[in-house]
Amino acid sequence: MAKYLVHQSGPLSGEVVISGAKNAVLPLMAAALLSEDKCVIRDVPQLRDVAFMKEILASLGAEIEDVEENTISIITEDIISTEARFDLVNKMRASILVMGPLLARKGRARMPLPGGCAIGARPIDLHLKGLEALGAEIIFNEAESYVEARAGGQGLIGDTIYLDFPSVGATENIMMAAVLAEGITYIENAAEEPEIVDLANFLNKMGAKIKGAGTDTIKIEGVKHLGGAKHTVIPDRIEAGTFMLAAAITRGNVRITNAVPDHLKPIIAKLRECGVRIEVGDEYLIVRGDLGPQSATDIKTLPYPGFPTDIQSPFMAFLTTVEGTGTVIETVFENRFMHVSQLRKMGASIETAGNKAIVKGGAVLRGTQVMATDLRAGAALVLAGLVAEGITEISEIYHIERGYEKFIEKFRGLGAQIEKTEE
Ligand code: EPZ
Repeated sequence: MAKYLVHQSGPLSGEVVISGAKNAVLPLMAAALLSEDKCVIRDVPQLRDVAFMKEILASLGAEIEDVEENTISIITEDIISTEARFDLVNKMRASILVMGPLLARKGRARMPLPGGCAIGARPIDLHLKGLEALGAEIIFNEAESYVEARAGGQGLIGDTIYLDFPSVGATENIMMAAVLAEGITYIENAAEEPEIVDLANFLNKMGAKIKGAGTDTIKIEGVKHLGGAKHTVIPDRIEAGTFMLAAAITRGNVRITNAVPDHLKPIIAKLRECGVRIEVGDEYLIVRGDLGPQSATDIKTLPYPGFPTDIQSPFMAFLTTVEGTGTVIETVFENRFMHVSQLRKMGASIETAGNKAIVKGGAVLRGTQVMATDLRAGAALVLAGLVAEGITEISEIYHIERGYEKFIEKFRGLGAQIEKTEE
């Protein structure tokens, strides 16, 4: 299996350009299923998850073309299947996002029941609750481990749906089902992430009538037909946050461009509390970890606009290297501390109790063999490896490469010494 060898690298410096957001492009691609006309999506990051989504859309009848390096076109003149194949869904949880569009356009969608994954059970009950509220019949087949949604003869009917938790995926799936439903749908306690707003903007360009995306109540007025549209994916706030932490942990001086600072407020605030200096421009940030001592702070992950769970592990890696004790509370996923044992192997002092971790800073990290347990945990181990003595060997790096475009190239561009071994 391929591995990363991360050498102690000294302060990072220079400029890094942020790619299009993984968690925006995946729902945007699924939304293209809603129209038989051509959709063109720009700033598409070259990721394994994007490749998986292309495979899934093609298996359903979409024709996908790489127009140029980071631009794709998707035409779905006819949907030839309303069933997402197990082998494809099993690779990526976000496959569930084709359920809403299939139900809206063809009145039927069958999905293998999603497996749990490294960061928790990640059920789909809120997705199904929303589709059922729109009039779909939900059929579970435990024996064959699939779930099917079927619209009644009159199609989907708008309704008001309250989400027990502001689930990002459920909000996206319900929005994509409701755009072609009869009447008006309200999603209450909706997720407010920037990726939700990006999806709503794309759907409105296609002819949908969506208001309130980015707030906790989204109104969708059903329309009869959606046309094609052109759209540019928003920059990836989690990639930007990862590079902010890389600048901080290495005490570096890094300019991050093609970013949306407004999407990064919690990370900017928390790093400033630790003594990291951050200059904020319109579409860039300059992160100075080299100006003065840094100290610990406390973070608690929450749905947007709270502190993002996807930056929890990179921030924890940073806390292991600053003076003082910081606490990390994870409220979004029930099992997202798998990186703790790996950081401990490197010499970090971290105690956990339930969803709370106490990080005693000032540790001297030492390179050793560690394993990426999820996308962001893998990134956190790279950050730790940049400052650890010696060489950190990271396995299971497929996790990282599914979600960060040109990961090694971008880090090398900032002076990081990382190589990839093919075993
Ligand atoms: C999206 O996942 C992101 N993935 C995740 O990014 C991100 O961590 C997460 O939102 C939270 O911000 C994509 O957008 C592709 P949720 P999603 O539904 O939609 C529970 C990364 O590293 N829940 O908001 O799956 C669930 O178990 C990934 O890029 C239910 O209980 O997240 C979890 O505890 C990781 N029932 C919580 O809600 C449901 O029906 C948040 O899940 C759905 C979710």
